[in-house]
Amino acid sequence: MLVSARGHASPARLESACALLRERAPLHWVERPGVRPFWAVTRYAHIVSMETRGGQFAAGPRTYLASESSEAVLRRVTGKPQLVRSLTEMDPPDHAVYRGILQNAYAPPALREMEVWLAQWAAEIIDRATARGDVCDFARDVAVPFTFRVIGRMLGTPEADDARLARLAQAFVGAEDPQRRLAEAPGDTMRMAMLALRDYFEAVVADRRAHPRDDLATLIAHAEPHGRAMPHYELISYFILLVTAGHDTTALALAGGLDALLAAPDQFARLRAEPELLDSAIEEMLRWTTPVRHFMRTALCDTEVGGQRIREGEALALFFHSANRDEAVFEDAAAFRIDRSPNPHIAFGRGPHICMGLLLARMQMRAMFAELLRRTARIERAGRVRRVQSQFMSGVGVLPVRISLCAERRPAVA
Ligand code: HEM
Repeated sequence: MLVSARGHASPARLESACALLRERAPLHWVERPGVRPFWAVTRYAHIVSMETRGGQFAAGPRTYLASESSEAVLRRVTGKPQLVRSLTEMDPPDHAVYRGILQNAYAPPALREMEVWLAQWAAEIIDRATARGDVCDFARDVAVPFTFRVIGRMLGTPEADDARLARLAQAFVGAEDPQRRLAEAPGDTMRMAMLALRDYFEAVVADRRAHPRDDLATLIAHAEPHGRAMPHYELISYFILLVTAGHDTTALALAGGLDALLAAPDQFARLRAEPELLDSAIEEMLRWTTPVRHFMRTALCDTEVGGQRIREGEALALFFHSANRDEAVFEDAAAFRIDRSPNPHIAFGRGPHICMGLLLARMQMRAMFAELLRRTARIERAGRVRRVQSQFMSGVGVLPVRISLCAERRPAVA
């Protein structure tokens, strides 16, 4: 369940497998054909303790769960132990230096300037999605174009390229999903997506080096970590990280968040009646959806986690989704409650690798849901939900809804 792409598309079965593991084998040694062995870590306390224990666990080179055959295909393409080498794969001393390049771009002062535009953009996307009729796929017609333009605007890529880049980014992180893949074998899909993204961003880098602009692409193209130009592999990896981490995650949280509200009409009605609960509702949507399902770490020395001895070199998969359903931390964890407080979810991870875009993600969710509350009189299901088949990034990928707009626009949510 936990280590199959399909398992993550079946929430009820996934939840019960995680609950069983948390209770009986919170550190479970997984050996299955075709995948290098690893520890599955499912309890909140163990994941947080590992994430914040500097120096004992490395993020690279084994950063994601992949089959040995996929790993072999990718090694042949890059000649490296991993497909890309960006922040998520880096450890000291590179990690802090590379993270420093964009740190300010995702900090509150820079993001504050985007607030007005985000509200207008949310309104425009809803207009576009409802212009053809009252039924749309909220995931594909609203969440994906909304979130991709945010990252595209910051990077400085044109809106005309959004759909193609989003498709490549989705294939890259969801290579096992039948609707996202570009080829039969996941390794081939990742290779094709990576090469297409590489070609695209090589041209962007050449352009920005010749004609600098006020955008993140220029910042990355001219960055000099350790006082030297960024090596080509790390340079392209940086762009690939931003287009994957920067949109699919938030799109899945938006679609999954709306799906959760539709599944709990009392919660949706309460949010409409008390829009001041929006911020806490968003935190609950993040806990509930946990779009990033896992990251891996490798033990750098003999150590222990939760009383279990871990040997140097052993890999551990941290299942954030399971941690966010841990009954030891979240009362009534299986219930979606928009007023949950406290809500110390780890949808954005913890420690040195904590999500760099967490403020931006929250701002996007706030802008979109504020606009939905303001503009819509009613939202209801209009077809079957489809979940993304991926053990890395999963959630609601298709959400058909019928949107009834208000006759008059209401004032903005304070
Ligand atoms: C709901 C939306 C999002 C979720 C759930 C999410 C989740 C995560 C998680 C779990 C990590 C790894 C944390 C760890 O290893 O402890 C991460 C890292 C990262 N995220 Fe996000 N993310 C989201 C949105 C974004 C956005 C909008 C951006 C903007 C570009 C972004 C950029 C990054 C980057 C650059 C990293 C790597 C940080 C590092 O390794 O130092 N994320 N994210």
